[in-house]
Formats: sequence, structure tokens, C-alpha cells
Amino acid sequence: MDEATKELLGEHHQALAIAAAVVLVAGVAIFSQSLPDCLMSQPVHALGRIHAGKVFFKIPSPKHLKHHLEMLTSSTHFGGRDYEAGKYTQAAKAIEYYPWVGMPADRQVVVFNGTTNKIEYTADLKEDEIPGDPATQYRTNLPAFHAYSFSGNVSGPLVFANYGESSDFQALSSWNVSVKGHVVLVKAGRVALGVKVQLAEQLGALGVLVFADPQDDGSGRGKVYPDGPWRPAGSLERDSAALQHIYPGDPLTPGHAATRTAPRLHPADAKNLPGIPSLPLPFRAALPLLQMLAGHGVLFSGHWTGPSPLHVNVLNSVKYEQRPIRNVIGRIAGEEEPDHAVIIGSHHDAWSAGAAGAGAGTSALLEVARGLGQLLRLGWRPRRTIILASWDASELAHVGATELWHTLHVTGVSGHTLAAASSPLLAGLLKDVARQVPLANISHVGLPGMHSAAFQMHGGVGSLELGFTGQPGAHHANHDSLQWMLRFADPHMRRLQAIARLSGMLLLRLADDPVLALRPTAYVGRIRRSLHDLERLVSRKHNATRRVRHIRHAVRVLQTNAMLVEHDYARLRRVYGTGCQMSGRRRAACVRLRKSINDRAYKLERMLTDPEGLAGRRWYKHVMLAPGRLTGTHVQEFPGLTEAALDGHWRRFRALEKRTGDILYEAAWFLRET
Ligand SMILES: *[C@@H]1O[C@H](CO)[C@@H](O)[C@H](O)[C@H]1NC(C)=O
Ligand SMILES: *[C@@H]1O[C@H](CO)[C@@H](O)[C@H](O)[C@H]1NC(C)=O
Ligand SMILES: *[C@@H]1O[C@H](CO)[C@@H](O)[C@H](O)[C@H]1NC(C)=O
Ligand SMILES: *[C@@H]1O[C@H](CO)[C@@H](O)[C@H](O)[C@H]1NC(C)=O
Ligand SMILES: *[C@@H]1O[C@H](CO)[C@@H](O)[C@H](O)[C@H]1NC(C)=O
Repeated sequence: MDEATKELLGEHHQALAIAAAVVLVAGVAIFSQSLPDCLMSQPVHALGRIHAGKVFFKIPSPKHLKHHLEMLTSSTHFGGRDYEAGKYTQAAKAIEYYPWVGMPADRQVVVFNGTTNKIEYTADLKEDEIPGDPATQYRTNLPAFHAYSFSGNVSGPLVFANYGESSDFQALSSWNVSVKGHVVLVKAGRVALGVKVQLAEQLGALGVLVFADPQDDGSGRGKVYPDGPWRPAGSLERDSAALQHIYPGDPLTPGHAATRTAPRLHPADAKNLPGIPSLPLPFRAALPLLQMLAGHGVLFSGHWTGPSPLHVNVLNSVKYEQRPIRNVIGRIAGEEEPDHAVIIGSHHDAWSAGAAGAGAGTSALLEVARGLGQLLRLGWRPRRTIILASWDASELAHVGATELWHTLHVTGVSGHTLAAASSPLLAGLLKDVARQVPLANISHVGLPGMHSAAFQMHGGVGSLELGFTGQPGAHHANHDSLQWMLRFADPHMRRLQAIARLSGMLLLRLADDPVLALRPTAYVGRIRRSLHDLERLVSRKHNATRRVRHIRHAVRVLQTNAMLVEHDYARLRRVYGTGCQMSGRRRAACVRLRKSINDRAYKLERMLTDPEGLAGRRWYKHVMLAPGRLTGTHVQEFPGLTEAALDGHWRRFRALEKRTGDILYEAAWFLRET
């Protein structure tokens, strides 16, 4: 074990803390570089690997989880600004990066008469303090702010654009309501903030104001905080305005780590930064804006579109500079396959105290670390290397995880939640382990999203995300606090315990199973379904249905060859047993076969990446998965081809169909090799 790990998992489990402050997604990844010396594997120790999961199951405790959460939510921890939280995790190794980060300087939203300049209304952008919840009163709490928002001062008439989705702007256009030269007011949700701002900017809007509709997460849903979990009218929902569907992470160093000396883009050339200002508003401050639209334009989802006769001034002053962020990393060297690693991680930054929005995930990660520490003391050693990562600046644009990826070139991610998302490669394992954990009720496994984008969609590492499906009523607000959590989300820490158990047991399976529980056949099943959807889209848009012939054939070969991996697995079990517990040449043959099965299974994910990346957003390399360019959140399968078809760009479609087919053929041939 290296020094950092010794420190990390030392005698005093208080010092186990990997990270510092907040959030929830953890990662599981497997990294490449195969290993000839697994031929020299050692006898298993006092605590056999087979039993490690059973021992681990008993470790995560509500008492410890609550203690972690108390420590982690005892201040504000905004990425690139607050480092206090790091003290809770000082034992682990901190790695710094220097991304381009903006901090809020000044802001105002004012309604005025465009002719006389007389001010009619000044919006109160302060978030209400809630009596009795000290977290809502921290002086360090952030003002109304969108991370990576454009620093500017604009004025114009107001237009309401519903959720600011592409279809909403189309509706406005069909009613002849232009947003050009106007300030746009939208509701939060449905699509990523970066997408709303980008669409508004492309249509010539001057700025964007965003409020959370009480019907979505406030009084329309139930009692508001502190009487219930839902959002009060005086609460803000902060968010990142970065265009993460173009690329996440540091805007100035796409594709590589934001080290101190890394070459950087000029901020004006960074393609994931918006070009118009935006601000969040509490609903209470948005109400007068909605009222001044009354009678102007068209009724749209219960509100008038405008434009308003009065003008709105939006001042959003942001001070940008290169600032340090801190990822905290721990490592346990694998005993038999040290060059293969599994990563588990979570982010520790937050908009506020961040109980659900970071604290929960980090607490679970800390319990996993504590559990691993106990296993180590019992003599257990993982077969593969385990990396525990607590990354920073996730709320800005998933900066910490992205820079981590760029540095380690490691693989995969898993997070913590009952709303689970996974690469099809890992989904079977996830369901299998979830069945052993009370309350880990996974009825639906989605596709991995932005938390693991750096691993899954850029690096081609099978990833899974487990996220706490708390109520959205405290999302990115000051009252996402310990009290909110203990009163409404997880009073007895049982759900968090389930997450700690589930993520730890998944980690142990991935780290210890002689044969990785990754299923190429399941992946191919998913690819076939996606292909079917693509074919339907193409035939709807275009008369020819033979446009995906190349891919269809490649998928058939892929299916056949994925079965070969299953056959080899069956042969391994039948002829040798997965433990390869024999000697001499027979053992060498067993180990060779086992390694081939493992390599083919986990490297399939990497084989599904295209070094060229997607048109217009080359950072996204995966041919099967990318965030939708019009949602920024929902995963689009066959993203490049789907976009070409939607654009009716058939020449691009044909070229890409050939290219994607070739990539799938290569993957298929790779699955065949033994
Ligand atoms: C912002 O613009 C408004 C309206 O044009 C102007 O009154 C105000 O002084 C400006 N504020 C700053 C800080 O530039
Ligand atoms: C929008 O403007 C066009 C062209 O001026 C006109 O033909 C159409 O009727 C208008 N539509 C609406 C809904 O007002
Ligand atoms: C702006 O002020 C002028 C002068 O008082 C007035 O005539 C006009 O109606 C006002 N505009 C609006 C939109 O209220
Ligand atoms: C598990 O999920 C199902 C389907 O979503 C739901 O009906 C059931 O109540 C859940 N059970 C628990 C214990 O949460
Ligand atoms: C499909 O073909 C029909 C007749 O052959 C034609 O009228 C129609 O425009 C075509 N549709 C598309 C989307 O190309």
C-alpha cells in the first residue's frame, strides 16, 4: 500500500474521510492496461474475497452516516471558493487543478420605463432565511447566481418562454412572438440550463431569467419548508449555465487536465460558455414580472408571453479568473491485478450546505472507505486496485471529475442512488447486487448521465451512477441542509445506509470477482434496440430504409461474437473453475482464458468510442451515448446519426453510418479474439 492509502485508511477512522464536503454520485471504473503478472497471483488472505461483501454489508451505519453528514454540511462549500470542508478529509491526498471559474460580484433585476427610465420594480434576489435552520443563514451562502454565466448588463422588453425548450421557442415563433432583443423569462427544469441559454442566445435574446414554478417543486406539490419538503416562494434554484452538452469541465482546457501549466484557450474561444447573461429568481421575485406581461401576446401554459411594454434590466457581474480546485484521492493497490482499477467517487462541492446535493453521496463514500479500512485490517486485499475519489467543482460544470479523468486516464464511474443509471455492460451486476440490499429498490436502470460523462462518454469506461432520489424541493437551495434531510428525506439514514451498502458491494464485486460481471451480450441487446429506434426515425424522415445496412450487419456480427465471450466463460467454469486453483501449464491456460474474457468484456466500452467525436462537440467520443443536444440531460443513443437524421443531413448521415458500422465491426472482431 502506498503512503496516501495508509493515511487514508489508517487507524483512526475519523481520518478516513476521503473528501470534504458534498454530493452524491459515486463512480466505478475499470482501467485498461492488461497484466501479464496475474499469473503470479498470491494465496488469498485470512479474509477470503468471497466473504468480503458479506462482512462489508454489516459496516455502514446510520450513526456514522449522520456524523459524516453533520461535518459535511456545517458550512457552504462552493467549488473554487470554499476549502474549509477539506479539513474533514485531510488524511487523503489532494490534487489541485486550476480551472477558469467565475465568482458572483454584482447582480440586479430592475423593471423600468424605456422612455423615461423611471424604475417601476426592483426584484429582491435574496433567498429567504428560514427561522430555526442555521444553514439558511450562513453568511457564506451564495447570492442568486448561475455558474459560468456570462458577465453582462442588458436591457429590453420581457418575453415568457415557458421552459425554454426548443419546442417552446418554436411555439413562440409560430405566434410571431420574437425573443430577439428581449429578455427571456423561463421556468426551471425539463432541459439543462445551458441548453435554455444557448437556444435563447441563438435566437438573439439579450438575457435569461429563470424561476422554479411552485407547481413543479413548491406549494403546488405540498407543504413548503420548514413545514414540508417543498420549495418556498422565497427560495432560489442555482445552477450551471455552462453548455455541458458541448463539453463539461474547465472551459479553457477541453480534452486535457487544467494543471497550472496546461495550454489554455482564450475565454472568448471556449465553446461551452454562454454569451448572454442569466440569473435565477425566487418565484416571489418572478411573480411581478409575470404579472406585467398580462394581456400582452398569447397565453402560454397559463402565462402571457409578452413582450412587455416595460423594459427589464438584467445586471449579472461575474469576476472570472483561474482558481484552484481540490480533488481528494485515495488508492488501495490491487494484489493480483494492480494495473486494473475500479474508481468510486462522489463530489464534495455544493451550492450551499448541500445535504442532499453532495453531503449524502460523500457520506456514503466515507462509509465505503471506512468499510474498506475494516476489511483491510481483517487481512483482505482487493484483487484489483481501488481508487476512491472525492471531486470538487461538480456544480460548476462537473469540473473535478472531468479533470480527474484527464489526469489519470482511468475508467468508469458509479454513484449512489436508488435511481440508478448504468452502462448496459454493468446493469446486470447492479440489479444483482441491489437484490441483496434492503431498500435498494431499483425498478428501472437508466443510462449514465453527466456525473459520469467524463468516464463513460469521453473515456469509454463502463460507468454507473447511483443517485439519491430525494425530493427536488431543496435542489440547489440554501435549505438543502442537514435539518431538511433529517426531517424529510432520510430521517433514520436508512436510505443512505442502503446506498453505502449498495455502492460498496458493487465496488467489491468489480474489484474482487475473478471474472468481471460485465455482459457484452446485454450491451448488444441494448444496441439492437437503439438501432431499431434509429431505423424508425430514418424511415419517418426519409423514404429509404436501407440507410443503416452497414450498421445492421455489424450489429449481427457483434451479437454473434458477444456470445463467444459467454461461451468462453462457460468453458472456463466447466474446465477449470473461475479461481484457476491449479498449477503449472493448466493454471497458465486458465489464467490466460480468464484474462481474455475480462479484457474483452470491459474493453468493449472503449471500442465503442470514436476518436473523431461528435460533430460540433468532439469531446463526446462515445458512438452510443451522449447528452441530447437539445436537452443536455437526457441521454441520446446513436447521437451523431440521430442528429444527422433530424437535420435531414443525409450526406453526413451516410458517411457517419459507414464510420459507425466500421467501429462496431472492429468491436465485434475484438470480442472474437482470444
Ligand atoms: C447597467 O445598465 C443599466 C441600464 O442601462 C444602467 O442604469 C446601470 O448603470 C448599469 N450598471 C452597471 C453596473 O453597468
Ligand atoms: C405571423 O406573421 C405572418 C407573416 O406576417 C402572418 O402571415 C401570420 O398570420 C402571423 N401569425 C399569427 C399567429 O399571428
Ligand atoms: C412610460 O412613461 C411615459 C411618460 O410618463 C408614459 O406615457 C408611458 O405610458 C410609460 N410607458 C409604459 C410602458 O408604462
Ligand atoms: C419499490 O419500487 C416499486 C416500483 O417502483 C414500488 O411500487 C415499491 O413500493 C417500492 N418498494 C419500496 C420498499 O420502496
Ligand atoms: C417519399 O416518397 C413520396 C413518393 O415517392 C414523396 O411524395 C415524399 O415526399 C417522400 N418523402 C420524403 C420524406 O422524402
